[in-house]
Amino acid sequence: MLGLAMNTTQIDENSVGSQFRMTMRKFPATVTVVTASDDTRDHGMTVTAVTSVSMDPPSLMVCLNNRSRLHSMLLDQPRFAVNVLTASHPEVSDAFSGKVAPEERFTTGNWERDPAGMMILKSAHANVVCTRMAAVPYGTHTIFVGQVDRARVDEGTRPLLYSDACYHVSEPAADRKPSPVGKTEFDLYF
Ligand SMILES: Cc1cc2nc3c(=O)[nH]c(=O)nc-3n(C[C@H](O)[C@H](O)[C@H](O)COP(=O)(O)O)c2cc1C
Repeated sequence: MLGLAMNTTQIDENSVGSQFRMTMRKFPATVTVVTASDDTRDHGMTVTAVTSVSMDPPSLMVCLNNRSRLHSMLLDQPRFAVNVLTASHPEVSDAFSGKVAPEERFTTGNWERDPAGMMILKSAHANVVCTRMAAVPYGTHTIFVGQVDRARVDEGTRPLLYSDACYHVSEPAADRKPSPVGKTEFDLYF
């Protein structure tokens, strides 16, 4: 059955694509800004498609649209940094998702260059610097796998989440408290 008619384009609400889009809309994700640099410029973009891959070796992956500027930079440059935003950073997310021109984005937030030349958000919930090990194209996106060179997390902040086209902050479920490191029943995980 054909659903809404928007302008001249008809959207099939029952297509798998529409169902998946609506599902992912309600699928909370942690908001990050992924950065990379070359000889002439720094670049960064807002990315929620970030997840760990393995602890051995420590590695994560990010999925970037092939049309994004960062995509071509990550194909060329050996390293990238994942900066996990906090509840104080919706404006940073907005700036790095297209509301601010690429060359002006780093004026939003307290960015600094680390000794290795990576752009790092000082007030981030976490920073993870990686060396790119693989780039796997799939559909409109490429999955970049990075081996972790170093990682730091701020125990005093909470990560910014994105769900239903809105920013949120997570809280422990009412009857649960975070377990100390190494004390969870899921020790094989985190
Ligand atoms: C909350 C949020 C999450 C996003 N996550 C991704 C993502 O995981 N991968 C991606 O390719 N684009 C993602 N985007 C879109 C890019 O941030 C946006 O298209 C950006 O403008 C692309 O960078 P560019 O303008 O430098 O090309 C996201 C945007 C928002 C607002």
